[in-house]
Amino acid sequence: MKNLVILISGRGSNMVAIAEACAAEGWDARIAAVISNRSDAGGLVYAQQHGIPTAVVNHRDFEDREAFDAALAQVIDGFAPELIVLAGFMRILTPGFVQRYAGRMLNIHPSLLPAFPGLHTHRRAIEAGCKVAGTTVHVVTPELDHGPIVAQAVVSVRPDDTEDTLAARVLVMEHQVYPRAVRWWIEGQLEATADGRIVHRSAAPQLLIGS
Ligand code: GRF
Repeated sequence: MKNLVILISGRGSNMVAIAEACAAEGWDARIAAVISNRSDAGGLVYAQQHGIPTAVVNHRDFEDREAFDAALAQVIDGFAPELIVLAGFMRILTPGFVQRYAGRMLNIHPSLLPAFPGLHTHRRAIEAGCKVAGTTVHVVTPELDHGPIVAQAVVSVRPDDTEDTLAARVLVMEHQVYPRAVRWWIEGQLEATADGRIVHRSAAPQLLIGS
């Protein structure tokens, strides 16, 4: 049974999708803890109601990123996780922290990376006149919103889309693609090619198509 630790900063809908898939599909894994840098993160309530241990490490209590990351790592390691899942965790991580969990930390970003790293991805996609948008699950590397791509999901950008309507359709896909990617990692289905790409051992589609 593999231990997962999920880091959140807000509503935690991706965390919920992963927890529900884990339970419904009988993964050989358990959510060992949900950890947030904000005590008011909505997702903590879900975790508490479902018997998942929670912890808060408030970044405001620390002088700098290094001190925060060191404290966070200590809490994470207390749950002995095989995999760290970033699900709307809104902190930039230090290289030392990323290195500590190299190859076993995943993130989901609401754009088709390498396009639109950073914030306001949906607004930027609309403003750029993109006809597709989507989301990317990737292995975390020191560079923000970078790292080998595990899976992507696409949706069309409609002429009348607003940031909110586009975000809502992308989120539906996030809730499908992230649990799938996490499950693949747990089952050992993912392998890195010599040039550092991530492929599925049995060639399962690493692209989901929404509408
Ligand atoms: C998602 O859009 C995710 O891609 C981004 O932050 C958002 C988190 O949403 N990294 P939630 O907290 O999982 O509902």
